[in-house]
Amino acid sequence: MKQHMLFSPGPVNTAPNVREALMHYDICHRSREFEVLYKGLCEKTLKIFNADESYRSVVISGSGTSANESVLSSVFDEGDRALLIRNGEFGDRLKQILNQYGIEFVDCSFEWGTAVDPEKVEKAVKENPDVKLIAMVYHETSSGIINPISEIGHIAGAYNKEYFVDCVSAAGGQHVNVVENHVTYATTVGGKCLGAYPGSAIVCFKEDKVKGLNSNMGRNVYLNLFRHYEKAIRYNQTPNTPNVNIFWALDKALDNILEEGLEHLIRRYKECADIIRNGLRELGLSLLLPEELMANTVTSVFLPEDKNLEDFIINMESDGFTVYPGKEKFYEMNIFQIANMGEIYPENCRDFLKVLEKNI
Ligand SMILES: Cc1ncc(COP(=O)(O)O)c(C=O)c1O
Repeated sequence: MKQHMLFSPGPVNTAPNVREALMHYDICHRSREFEVLYKGLCEKTLKIFNADESYRSVVISGSGTSANESVLSSVFDEGDRALLIRNGEFGDRLKQILNQYGIEFVDCSFEWGTAVDPEKVEKAVKENPDVKLIAMVYHETSSGIINPISEIGHIAGAYNKEYFVDCVSAAGGQHVNVVENHVTYATTVGGKCLGAYPGSAIVCFKEDKVKGLNSNMGRNVYLNLFRHYEKAIRYNQTPNTPNVNIFWALDKALDNILEEGLEHLIRRYKECADIIRNGLRELGLSLLLPEELMANTVTSVFLPEDKNLEDFIINMESDGFTVYPGKEKFYEMNIFQIANMGEIYPENCRDFLKVLEKNI
């Protein structure tokens, strides 16, 4: 089979046993066998978030946006307001969801690729006491910046706000502790740091909050979080036909993580990122972010000015390595992104650097 190394932030290279799991014999999603699979998935995903027994999770057939949209379109009553913290493309995506569903929000925005200032957030919370929920992306993939999940969690706890954290590109790559960080809702996907395929979206939530919702509150059908919750706890089922084979693969990927150990996986990602970043510096390339703000799995790099970004990406790809062009203003700044998620090991990073050196 053709081997292509994906140094892009999803889809990712998968382990052989995850790929094989896709070929599981066919089952009906209303069978007992599916129910056992789904119950296991819901339980295993809780471990990725270090959740305790007050949390539950559901798996939705869809991409990361479906998990985020499921939360934001299901939890607000008429007149409820949110506070949105954003500093990149995926924070902007949350804004788009809120706008689309007509949910009012306080906009606490920062320049793309700059740090969130918790003092500014706290001031906005104080000035807007009616805000019900604070929303933020943890790892803002568009720059690779890590946002202050615990500082904002502290504010959410102190002011008694619900707290929604998009962990789509963070879970499995960064330490996420929903209990310590007062997180009410956290989302992720199979096809990034968890090492499975696109098409499975996970919502982990405080059970008492979702129990208190009702299906009419949601301005949605397919993404109705209360319906997903109800079906899961009553029947270990999903409300609609799920991506069964994708779920088998996710299950295997989660088993792999639990076997390797979540902390070990996070350390492996950090080790790979360090190898890549040291190599980039040795090649004289500049990085967008200072070390302390960078995630363990994404590095944003300036391509030398005399190099064309499109040509560079095509050349890397024809050498078997996929990297990602920066988005919007980062594209204009000739930035590309290197991700180390999924089946990537130190030796792959060293091979990557050799190919990179040839192409810059
Ligand atoms: C932090 C974050 N949130 C949301 C999304 C949207 O996910 P999707 O493209 O799978 O819908 C992404 C995708 O990369 C992401 O990185």
